[in-house]
Amino acid sequence: MKASRLAALAFGALALGVAAYVSAPSAHAHGDVQPQPVDTAGLEPLGEEWREENPYRGNRKAIEIGASGYNQNCARCHGLEVISGGLAPDLRHLEKGKDGDEWFSQRVQGGAIINGVTKMPSFAGVISQERLWAIRSYIESQHVDE
Ligand code: HEC
Repeated sequence: MKASRLAALAFGALALGVAAYVSAPSAHAHGDVQPQPVDTAGLEPLGEEWREENPYRGNRKAIEIGASGYNQNCARCHGLEVISGGLAPDLRHLEKGKDGDEWFSQRVQGGAIINGVTKMPSFAGVISQERLWAIRSYIESQHVDE
């Protein structure tokens, strides 16, 4: 009798554990992106086709919008104010100009999957082109030489 009651208790605890696991999607959705809205009002719309070069470089409004977009979507890995705490590369060192734009495009579109592990999620179709180039503008405004 006693043993079966214990077993029932254990089963109950297990079921509770499973329920908690299932109702907490972030616990097993590693690498998924939960993009935060970034207002792009005041920026020239860019259409569908991806630009090869940042159309907003040096644009004050873009830098401002990009700062909040960066803080909401990138800072948890790349560090607040683009100062890396070591989890991910320090983007202040990302090359300026077109070369940096190219590497930026590759990473934000393709993400970084290393040995089958998603180190950085892809933001293609998740964050608009306008928002991504605004983020690039902000990153470039924080550039420091190595
Ligand atoms: C889940 C963590 C994570 C998030 C969120 C993230 N990144 Fe990354 N990112 C990484 C890691 C890790 C790498 C390094 C990958 C590697 O080893 O090549 C990286 C690499 C990069 C690189 C290439 C840097 C270099 O020096 O090679 C760029 C550019 C970049 N990320 C931009 C962004 C931007 C912009 C955002 C936000 C829209 C973002 N990342 C969000 C983790 C993240």
